[in-house]
Amino acid sequence: MRNAERAEAQTCVTGREDSVVTSERSRAGTKEWIARHSYNVRICHWINVIACGYLLVSGIHIFLDFPELYWGHTGYQGYPAIFKLSDWGISWDDAGAMGNRMWGRNYHFTFAWVFLINGLMYVGWNMVTGQFRDRMLPRRDELTLVNLRADLRDHLRWLARKRTSTTSYGTLQKTSYLLLIFVFVPLLTLTGLAQSPGFTAAMPALLDMFGGRQSARSLHTIGTVLLVLFVVVHVLEVLAAGAFNRVRSMITGKHPLPEEGL
Ligand code: HEM
Repeated sequence: MRNAERAEAQTCVTGREDSVVTSERSRAGTKEWIARHSYNVRICHWINVIACGYLLVSGIHIFLDFPELYWGHTGYQGYPAIFKLSDWGISWDDAGAMGNRMWGRNYHFTFAWVFLINGLMYVGWNMVTGQFRDRMLPRRDELTLVNLRADLRDHLRWLARKRTSTTSYGTLQKTSYLLLIFVFVPLLTLTGLAQSPGFTAAMPALLDMFGGRQSARSLHTIGTVLLVLFVVVHVLEVLAAGAFNRVRSMITGKHPLPEEGL
């Protein structure tokens, strides 16, 4: 491997100049590894996966207990709804029987704190160490139309450029992570907080911001559906890029560098 390429492999994904590249003897010859994910990213990522799982299941339980969505400040059974589960063949009573409000609320609030504290630790650490800038902020030359088109084409064909995608994130991958972390998750958190009477008593501006508690609840539900779509695409991308190596690197931190030319 050329020196310049080695230096790039060392700094691109972890953003750390001192990231270790190790060589390991295998029967096939020498295998080279790059340090792909820091401790912070790995620990926070898997805590986040557990928290998101609990938030989703408990959120569904809460929704089933009140299976209609409204817009504005007002909402009750019989009030004009923007979404009704009964329109999809599940009556109010059947939905209520499938959900468990107490279980749902307890777990939702517990894991909302886990999600928030873990997220703040992840964002704080990556900000302070400059990792967001190094690993996720697209470079000027990546934001050209030609590069974006090529990246989109590769994604649509489920084509992972194994060697370059090992040493750095793709432009669309970087952009989607940044949008998720700095736009999407904050909005989901705020629409959640806007449903808490305790919180909005102290910060009524939050209710005005979303046009009422019912609007905030509807936006929170729409956001959840979009987040589920993100996770589905995210996991499919991991599968396309080579699930074993990618998930292993999210656990151990190390990723093998593919052969030249891939
Ligand atoms: C079972 C579910 C999941 C699996 C198997 C998974 C797997 C992975 C893997 C392997 C990576 C590294 C990708 C790479 O190196 O190219 C990654 C990164 C990432 N994942 Fe997930 N993921 C899951 C769920 C989630 C969820 C629920 C979220 C957020 C809501 C999420 C957000 C992220 C983010 C933001 C990164 C980039 C982290 C960084 O580099 O700082 N993932 N995921």
